[in-house]
Amino acid sequence: MCGIVGYTGNKRASGILLGGLKQLEYRGYDSAGIAVMDQNKITVVKASGRLENLCRRTNDGDSVPGGAGIGHTRWATHGAPTEENAHPHLSNDGRFAIVHNGIIENYLSLREELIAEGYHFESETDTEVIVHLIDMYYDGDMRSALAKAASRLEGSYALGVICTEEPDKIYAAKEASPLIVGAGIGENFFASDVTALVSHTRNVIYLEDGEFAELSPDSIRITDCFGKVIDKKVSRISWDVQAAEKGGYEHFMLKEIMEQPAAVSAAISPRIKDGRIVFDELSITAEELKHIHKIVITACGSAYYAGCAGKYAIEQLCRIPVTMELASELRYSDPLIDDHTLLIVISQSGETADTIAALKECKARGARTLAVVNVVGSAIANLADDCVYTWAGPEIAVATTKGYTTQVSVLYMLGVYFGELLGKVGDQYDYLVDELLLLPRRVQETIDMNPGIEALAEKYHNSKALFFIGRNTDYATALEGALKMKEISYLHAEAYAAGELKHGTIALIEEHQPVIALCCNPLIMEKTLSNIVEVKARGAEVLALTFRSNDKIVSSADDLLFIPKTTALFSAVTEVVPLQLLAYYVAKANGCDIDKPKNLAKSVTVE
Ligand code: G6P
Repeated sequence: MCGIVGYTGNKRASGILLGGLKQLEYRGYDSAGIAVMDQNKITVVKASGRLENLCRRTNDGDSVPGGAGIGHTRWATHGAPTEENAHPHLSNDGRFAIVHNGIIENYLSLREELIAEGYHFESETDTEVIVHLIDMYYDGDMRSALAKAASRLEGSYALGVICTEEPDKIYAAKEASPLIVGAGIGENFFASDVTALVSHTRNVIYLEDGEFAELSPDSIRITDCFGKVIDKKVSRISWDVQAAEKGGYEHFMLKEIMEQPAAVSAAISPRIKDGRIVFDELSITAEELKHIHKIVITACGSAYYAGCAGKYAIEQLCRIPVTMELASELRYSDPLIDDHTLLIVISQSGETADTIAALKECKARGARTLAVVNVVGSAIANLADDCVYTWAGPEIAVATTKGYTTQVSVLYMLGVYFGELLGKVGDQYDYLVDELLLLPRRVQETIDMNPGIEALAEKYHNSKALFFIGRNTDYATALEGALKMKEISYLHAEAYAAGELKHGTIALIEEHQPVIALCCNPLIMEKTLSNIVEVKARGAEVLALTFRSNDKIVSSADDLLFIPKTTALFSAVTEVVPLQLLAYYVAKANGCDIDKPKNLAKSVTVE
């Protein structure tokens, strides 16, 4: 949601800003704009809809001169996605322009106060109050005006600001929304995430909450709210620009599906040394673990479903009760959480607003917290007591694929690791470590053994609805399979615990209703087989996902998808792959915008 870029240097800012916004498109947006300063004059250009509209309007930036500026992609919250509401917003006298990611919760009272002071508003946004506050507090010192304005704000923000009085400077501030500074030579940048910076510089500074950045072409100054300079570490981004490009694939989603063998390997292999799982980054000890009475896993969207898959392995291997909580529910549930609770938060982006809030809530109640995160230096990574990175690399498609499989892989590893620390794994340990090490190869085998998915998609893409059924670990994967389908193909897709069919859902089964049956857990396979027979008796078309050797299922289904044989405890990582591909090809057959599905955002930074 909302992307921010800022540039100051000797090049034409507009081109760099538009290029940066292009890289941030994946976050989700519905309008865009830039503000560029040239000889003490700010030019603002905005357009609703896709970035192409803004590029056309600015002649790809050529019609907007100037070397310092800010840009924004907006995902509408306060006010429709119109040009008036698009950022940047200008102060009434045109001296200041601002871009903002986040939500200002007290904007209504600030708006009233500013109207009483004589300011007039051009938009319906919460953001516009900030530019007028800066104008009100400005007395020749931009940094101090920004700090004073920020001190009045409740909510979350990443801000980029320019001021005509300081023509080569760009300013930034951050609270609970991501912002990163990029350090170049003779030029400096800021952006919501590194994908917008990596083609210009790989040297970045992760801003923390309450920090302010003042950038000129030759200097970077990071200060606290009192103006005290903070000495920040410059980090080097390890991946290069190709990692954030399509690399010959038609869509990022397909590229990211195909990258999964490597991504799962990056999550698992470096953490297994001489046959032992090693989490160098974890500080929690065996003694502390013994003190834990329950584990709560919380997240949103696919990250939540990754938790559902990981829950089985962690509970089985550690023999500690594990409960799943949606972050948006947990935060308001007055949860029974104390210092005997281990809270595991999962987030690809590390910046999902509800997940951050749930983490803060549980931390305040004394929980020990552990984050499983992909984006390095993100808010959740910084907030949790411990952070295990998934090392999936940049994920651009809105619908997560390698983000999910690497999260599940890390949860499996944590299950074995904690179980061993607690003395519960016993002589299964070597077998489980071998199974983990085999997962990347099995993901590749899964891709290779299902060449007919595009043809299957042709059969199913016109369906009114798709039902996914499974039990136990299969049910966890069914949840993610159904979510993938609805996110990108806009088909009605739901996952049901197969045992629950008889309690209602079976009433929906009619002639030719597609049912996707997940049958990869030998312990309950016979039970799912009964459910397949029941839906077939009512006319359903069954597409079963199972092992090749599973004769009973193979002979009962109308169509088949396969995974290689694997322990059920770790099956979600392979099992989800054919479902991702099915969703992809159904969406493609339906002509959907696969990488940027309507109404969705990659990073959901609002409640
Ligand atoms: C959005 C994305 C999903 C993601 C969810 C949680 O809805 O579109 O793909 O699973 O947010 O995001 P997170 O970054 O916390 O994993």
